[in-house]
Amino acid sequence: MKALQCVELGMPDKLEVNEIPDPELQSGHVMIENKAASVNFPDVLMIQGLYQFQPELPFSPGGESAGTIVEVGDGVENFKVGDRVVAMLGLGAFAEKVVAHENAVMKIPDSMDFETAAALPMTYGTSLYALKQRASLKEGETLLVLGAAGGVGLATVELGKAMGAKVIAAASTQEKVDMCIKHGADEGFVYPSGDLTRDQQKELSTKIKDLTGGAGANVIYDPVGSGYSEPALRAIAWEGRYLVIGFAAGDIPRIPLNLTLLKGCQIVGVFWGAWTGLDPAGNVANFEEIFKLHVDGKIAPEVSDKFTLDNASDAIAHLQNRKAKGKVIIQI
Ligand SMILES: NC(=O)c1ccc[n+]([C@@H]2O[C@H](COP(=O)([O-])OP(=O)(O)OC[C@H]3O[C@@H](n4cnc5c(N)ncnc54)[C@H](OP(=O)(O)O)[C@@H]3O)[C@@H](O)[C@H]2O)c1
Repeated sequence: MKALQCVELGMPDKLEVNEIPDPELQSGHVMIENKAASVNFPDVLMIQGLYQFQPELPFSPGGESAGTIVEVGDGVENFKVGDRVVAMLGLGAFAEKVVAHENAVMKIPDSMDFETAAALPMTYGTSLYALKQRASLKEGETLLVLGAAGGVGLATVELGKAMGAKVIAAASTQEKVDMCIKHGADEGFVYPSGDLTRDQQKELSTKIKDLTGGAGANVIYDPVGSGYSEPALRAIAWEGRYLVIGFAAGDIPRIPLNLTLLKGCQIVGVFWGAWTGLDPAGNVANFEEIFKLHVDGKIAPEVSDKFTLDNASDAIAHLQNRKAKGKVIIQI
């Protein structure tokens, strides 16, 4: 089969498309013929050796895909050949076929196409877990989303709206903000790119306070990190919840702890991948909710760009270069 392979760590241009043997089916697993896969920020990190877990070389990147089951291993009870599924793989998705444990696979609704299904797991899975289980977001609360036009950001905008929050989207261009408004954000604003100066940080805090009538945001969703986090935290509401999602801007910020005391707020870590292993039933229940929201027309993942397996390295570069709006898909 054809697969994108990382044979040496580095930038996307080091990746190769190679013919490799089909993966071997094991008991408890299913073989899926992939139709679509999607790119996530961990792919950018993993090919450079910068992610929190690092596979041995060579490996195929790609955390999630959707397709049709073509073979079922011994002991598999819940799936049969022909089932249309989405798989949460961690790696190996940028290939024509994958083998996945049945616990990492979910049937998709008949009305859902493969590209939409491939766009869902990591972004909507992370964001629903963050808003529901970690922040207990309530109807009527204000939710500020940083990096709101990115993969997890846009999923959060839609889910926050579906949960009845007032959603404020923050992103680096007006085009990105407009897309968030199209996906349900109530308000949006543009923040500067690059290293934020002290004045730009103050402006960011002031903007959030202005948009929340001085009260601050009840929940802040932060997949960006770096110089954006502290000014956002300074504009959190009393008893607010600050969700630490990731550090797409590169630096892991150090936060003065007194801010949590002054705001009576919580800084809440979110690690969706770890939670799916600790509470698989909770994760399946969340996905039933996500699929229902899609069937009911309350969420609609934005697929901004499509690539093929032959130019899948460009898809990863697209995300790395901050060009992606919503999800980047690889058609297989
Ligand atoms: N905690 C978890 O369980 C979990 C799960 C999934 C993902 N994550 C993390 O969440 C973060 C976002 O993932 P994603 O897949 O949504 O990525 P993405 O689609 O690339 O979105 C990231 C956003 O961050 C902003 N950004 C700011 N500075 C950037 C820079 N220097 N380079 C690239 N983007 C920059 C960009 O928005 P603007 O241009 O508008 O600023 C971009 O839209 C990553 O750190 C990822 O590891 C965490």
